[in-house]
Amino acid sequence: MNIEFFSEAAGRYASAANERFYRMIAAALLKKVPAYIDPKSILEVGAGTGFTTAEIRAKWPNACITALEPAAGMLRIGRAAATDVDWRADRLADFQGSKYDLVVASMSYHWLTPAEREKLISLAGQGVLVLAIPVSTSRRSGRDSRMTPAQTALLETVHSLRVEPGWPRETRRPELLLEGFSAKFRHVAVDELTVDEVYEDASEFIESLSARGALEALFGRSADAAVTELDARLSGLTGISFSWAISLTTASNDNNLTRYL
Ligand SMILES: C[S@@+](CC[C@H](N)C(=O)[O-])C[C@H]1O[C@@H](n2cnc3c(N)ncnc32)[C@H](O)[C@@H]1O
Repeated sequence: MNIEFFSEAAGRYASAANERFYRMIAAALLKKVPAYIDPKSILEVGAGTGFTTAEIRAKWPNACITALEPAAGMLRIGRAAATDVDWRADRLADFQGSKYDLVVASMSYHWLTPAEREKLISLAGQGVLVLAIPVSTSRRSGRDSRMTPAQTALLETVHSLRVEPGWPRETRRPELLLEGFSAKFRHVAVDELTVDEVYEDASEFIESLSARGALEALFGRSADAAVTELDARLSGLTGISFSWAISLTTASNDNNLTRYL
């Protein structure tokens, strides 16, 4: 279902604001790859319109990059933007790949099925796996427990519509990510990145949640009702702040990594 969503939303997804947001996350994520690693083969899972792909290419100009993107609308834009990449229209479940020096999934891991999440791990083999995953807690919000009006409105809308987030719990909690990956890899590091954004008004905030698939994930079939509620709760506000908590996970079985992670 999320693949049809992303296919239809591709034009809105490919906005300048989203490019800034996703490239900033990708750049922070790729910095987690230890400097001595020079990957010859890189697999990117859920490559979308190519924001992360562009960061990967800039960092490793000579690597062979395979980019998986099953949503046709996203793939069309990505393929046109990065022509020196082997784009595949596969879902991870259908992908016939072997092992890669580096596997990257930036803001896509939480959309994968449990079997696909296992497959991602096996594709990394002895290489390195890096993941950027939106999570529900942030160290920053721990320090400053006051919620912004946008956070309050979102939480109240979740409660009022009685929805269960579509993103699995084990991908939303940094401590569960650490526990899960530690059982599969010898070396794991989970760091957190907070991306603060300010939106002009309620409609810009709601559009950003929508185009990134967050409304779809949080509210599913109630997404339209959520838009109406959020709009009413935030009506008249300007300069709306919102913090995105993103977990950056690095995992590998390579023993040389011990001193880096
Ligand atoms: C939020 S976008 C992130 C795109 C990109 N990584 C970026 O940085 O802009 C998530 C992407 O994951 C893709 N996706 C969803 N399910 C997938 C699956 N089972 N296998 C591969 N990709 C998937 C979606 O089509 C979507 O393009």
